[in-house]
Amino acid sequence: MPTKTQRVLITGGAGYIGSHACTEFLDAGYDVIVLDNLSTGFEEALDTRVEFFKGSILDDKLLDQIFSKYKIDAIVHFAASLIVEESIRDPEFYYTNNLKGSLILFKKAIECKIDKFIFSSTAAVYGESQNEKLLDEADFCSPQNAYGKSKLFTEQALEDLSKACGIRFVILRYFNVAGATLCNGQRSKNSTHLIKIISEAATAKRETMKVFGQDYLTSDGTCVRDYIHVKDLALAHVKALEYIMNGGQSDIFNCGYGKGYSVLDVIHSMEKIIGRKVPYEIVARRAGDLPIVVSSNKKILQKLPWLPMFDSIDEICESSYKWELNRDKS
Ligand code: UFG
Repeated sequence: MPTKTQRVLITGGAGYIGSHACTEFLDAGYDVIVLDNLSTGFEEALDTRVEFFKGSILDDKLLDQIFSKYKIDAIVHFAASLIVEESIRDPEFYYTNNLKGSLILFKKAIECKIDKFIFSSTAAVYGESQNEKLLDEADFCSPQNAYGKSKLFTEQALEDLSKACGIRFVILRYFNVAGATLCNGQRSKNSTHLIKIISEAATAKRETMKVFGQDYLTSDGTCVRDYIHVKDLALAHVKALEYIMNGGQSDIFNCGYGKGYSVLDVIHSMEKIIGRKVPYEIVARRAGDLPIVVSSNKKILQKLPWLPMFDSIDEICESSYKWELNRDKS
């Protein structure tokens, strides 16, 4: 809990992860301002307690307005485009939105003496998995697409700005984010994320689903990922800010549970929850998928006062399924 009320600007606060983070910051006693252009976010996902500005991080005039109106203590920066496949087709869009947008935001913020940043990054910065090895923050990064590169370049820009201007930051590298809370979950219509798709198949919103490849060198031949509940991830942002407010050094933390589940493990977890089969077919591999992507989460557990609450794939699947069901009723 902050000693005096602190104000955070959350960019991308109407998105899936950003909107959960808003709620966690508000519940922890912060004032929250949201900047979101609603290109992929949803106004109805916004916590009613936030002050909302519709617009882009590329709009330096709007940033000037916000920074001159409010004294902001920290920035939690989510706003970004994040579809890997789209980034391969249109890299310029990704470098503009994610890298240039971040640089404009950081420049304006630093001019206004804002010196604390939490940055939303991704496991896609690692780029290569070495099968059984858990990925840790010191591993070499070699992102394979413009999305991962735009995030890694922004991480590096933050590191340089920190050295040059004395700002402090925490970079959070998300693994596979999934799940929902009672009134907030993944709203996007054309999601490609596994647990969202399984939830749609489990609630008969799609007749069947595809499993991309069963010929990987994994226990059952399907890809293995490290799934983290969105509420746990959202809370990690609050803990990360508390950490730098209490004098912690700028740092990078993986956000995952350090446990791998195959695509079939996740489908079976959902089948257990709903008590019937989820219809699926095995199809060819999806281009660009790595066999195993699992975090080492030792560092975040050691350095931040963060303890995951949902550390089980069943809870993640169940929350996602319930969210999908209840959306039908509203
Ligand atoms: N999968 C299926 N069928 C589907 C959807 C997914 O079999 O219908 C499989 C994928 O092939 C993959 C696994 O489920 O093996 C997970 O796929 P997701 O699309 O849910 O997630 P990714 O691991 O591909 O990507 C996620 C984020 C990215 C981020 C990356 C970092 O979505 O934004 O993790 O590792 F870059």
